[in-house]
Amino acid sequence: MSEVLTRSAARNIFYGGSLFFFILFAGLTAHTHWYMVNVSTNSETLTEEVKRGKHVWEEHSCINCHSILGEGAYFAPELGNVWTRYGGRDNPEAARAGLKGWIRAQPLNIPDRRVMPKIDLSEDELEALVDFLQWTDSIDTQDWPPTPAG
Ligand code: HEC
Repeated sequence: MSEVLTRSAARNIFYGGSLFFFILFAGLTAHTHWYMVNVSTNSETLTEEVKRGKHVWEEHSCINCHSILGEGAYFAPELGNVWTRYGGRDNPEAARAGLKGWIRAQPLNIPDRRVMPKIDLSEDELEALVDFLQWTDSIDTQDWPPTPAG
């Protein structure tokens, strides 16, 4: 075997390496897509109410202050797990009432605390919004956020 890398050996390493990593990349992309669609979301429980709630969430730009599953602004608490924080997994009725009550009670204007503005929402919109927050909390996020406070 020659000690020097020949042109054709270099070319084969280049093409072979490129092909290998291209196939690896395509395989990982396909796996990620498969995982998102089949494992890491919760599409079976997606109802019309949840979709409406997401619409309310978008219309009122909650994301301008809040993050949800890590996406959004970091001015106000993460809301991807707010359903769990309000005890929704043990007592859904109390969590629903608590979340609706909190949103209705704004602004609290507590000194030295960030203020959430009053956002005018109908009873229907509030219900849908809470359905959306409850559904979001049911997604398998592989332990995101890392702490309960978000
Ligand atoms: C202008 C910024 C702003 C917007 C817009 C906003 N919020 Fe908030 N929100 C806050 C702040 C700040 C807090 C924390 C206030 C506190 O702790 O006193 C908060 C707290 C909350 C909480 C309680 C979180 C917890 O962990 O106790 C909920 C639920 C909530 N917001 C829902 C919403 C929803 C739903 C919307 C959209 C309809 C929204 N917020 C829009 C600023 C905002």
